[in-house]
Amino acid sequence: MSGALLEVDGLEVFFGSGGERGSEVQALHGVSFEVQPGEIVGLVGESGSGKTVTSLALMGLLDPRTSRVQGAARLDGEPLWDDDGRLRAHVDVPMAMVFQEPMTALDPVFRIGHQLVETLRRRQRVSRREAMARAAELLDQVGIPDPKARLRSYPHELSGGMRQRVVIALALACSPRLLIADEPTTAVDATIQAQLLELISDLARKEGMGVLFVTHDLGVVAEACHRMITMYAGRVIESGTVADVLARPLHPYTGGLLAALPAPEHRGGRLPTIPGVVPAPGRAVEGCVFADRCAHKEPPCSVVPDLRELDGGRRVRCVRAEQLRLTGSRT
Ligand SMILES: Nc1ncnc2c1ncn2[C@@H]1O[C@H](COP(=O)(O)OP(=O)(O)OP(=O)(O)O)[C@@H](O)[C@H]1O
Ligand SMILES: [Mg+2]
Repeated sequence: MSGALLEVDGLEVFFGSGGERGSEVQALHGVSFEVQPGEIVGLVGESGSGKTVTSLALMGLLDPRTSRVQGAARLDGEPLWDDDGRLRAHVDVPMAMVFQEPMTALDPVFRIGHQLVETLRRRQRVSRREAMARAAELLDQVGIPDPKARLRSYPHELSGGMRQRVVIALALACSPRLLIADEPTTAVDATIQAQLLELISDLARKEGMGVLFVTHDLGVVAEACHRMITMYAGRVIESGTVADVLARPLHPYTGGLLAALPAPEHRGGRLPTIPGVVPAPGRAVEGCVFADRCAHKEPPCSVVPDLRELDGGRRVRCVRAEQLRLTGSRT
């Protein structure tokens, strides 16, 4: 799609083996999707489906000694890595990531102000004093009371919700055009979660920042996201607007998740479980990867399905999608 902020095209990730391709395990299979400016895209799928690996690959955070990345990704039309898989200097790439556990992004031995100033000065030639003023503005922007005083705090002096705000402030210090948030609200209580979601929605709306929002919580997707992508076994299996997908899922796996959901407006739930397990990465699969667990399996499912584009910009990796009448969420 032209004008996309992020375009991911056939992303593949392999782990293991220090270059011996025979013993590698493939974690991502041809993952493709887009994020438009100002759009919040929810990325869902059960544990092990490849959400974090997708995020880390895009951020250039996978260790090249133990992993190999293929395919293309562009931010504002600029490739994130070249044909040999070498990353562009990441400091030039306006994207940032927020993790589930804020302490992975914070250094316990430095004050908050110091960490913000260092991040700001890595990207811009500004004096320490200017950077400190900007750091206070960022803390204010993410809703931290008394920001000037807070600059002197150490991470352990803050609550979990406040720490996650600081991490978002650190991400914003990079002036990102794209924010990747990997379950940023899982470790905080419901009130703080609602505030963080509102903050992220605000930034998307006001700054035109695109957001890839990884979550297990379909209630959060329903409330905060514009589009959603379902991943299964390292593949994108469905995408569309949140309203469309929730009203009428096209892939039986998405359908299974929605059917198992008590009521999507109730936030805070983990992704419901459906019977069976995801095939382990590396296990050879013939035909559709979901067929083993699918209630709608028929002979055509023994052929590997493509991610097909249907009306309304929807995509689905199921040969039977048009024939199935799956039930959406009970709203
Ligand atoms: N460093 C690694 N080395 C080998 N395999 C890995 C590595 N990191 C992830 N994997 C594998 O890649 C697959 C996808 O993992 P990933 O962490 O992306 O799942 P996820 O969708 O984020 O799950 P969760 O919801 O539990 O966070 C899993 O099978 C995982 O075991
Ligand atoms: Mg994960």
